[in-house]
Amino acid sequence: MNIKSTKFIGSFNNLDQCPKTNFKEFAFIGRSNVGKSSLINFLTQKKDLAKVSNTPGKTQSINFFLINESWHLIDLPGYGFAKRSRSLREDWEKMMQRFFLKREQLHCVMQLIDSRIPPQTKDLDHVNWLGENNVPFVLIFTKVDKKERAVCLKNIQLFKNELLKSWEELPPSFLTSSEEKVGREEVMDFLANEL
Ligand code: GTP
Ligand code: MG
Repeated sequence: MNIKSTKFIGSFNNLDQCPKTNFKEFAFIGRSNVGKSSLINFLTQKKDLAKVSNTPGKTQSINFFLINESWHLIDLPGYGFAKRSRSLREDWEKMMQRFFLKREQLHCVMQLIDSRIPPQTKDLDHVNWLGENNVPFVLIFTKVDKKERAVCLKNIQLFKNELLKSWEELPPSFLTSSEEKVGREEVMDFLANEL
């Protein structure tokens, strides 16, 4: 898929505020600092479509982008941000669960997993929740940089093995490095096929 145009539509704090259009939607989610904004910029080939930061928890609202005048890319707030209070985290969880379960235009969740670290309970819990609630999703492993490839591949296998303890089949998965510009074509082909 070629990116011909990208347009920032807006930031919304909950499901009811989100645009009432019929564009197919792909929502990117992952733990805070997983490399979500970097991946969105890499995929869309826009340097600062999504804000990249070293401060975890930068994305706090639901950000909508219209791509090629035909589909929505959604940047969701990261989960597992320790510096947020418990009540804020619970609010976040309720807001997101409602979004995943009720947003009819949502076609697929792009679940990001940091390949540089071993399987994390928060990620496994999130993926299992999506599966249990029949929310369609794919796995995108991030930060699969060349110099750490062996470790990353091992972590990816461990993550899949954890999931295979409860699931017979795994969804499609993609290996990416936004820093080294790896894996873009595979993800874009997947998106193009789903549109
Ligand atoms: P929040 O919005 O703050 O939750 O973070 P995010 O998931 O959007 O992550 P972001 O793209 O801001 O990147 C977080 C950090 O990871 C930054 O320091 C990036 O430079 C770094 N990063 C992103 N992608 C890669 C990658 O492919 N390889 C490496 N080594 N670092 C990366
Ligand atoms: Mg971000």
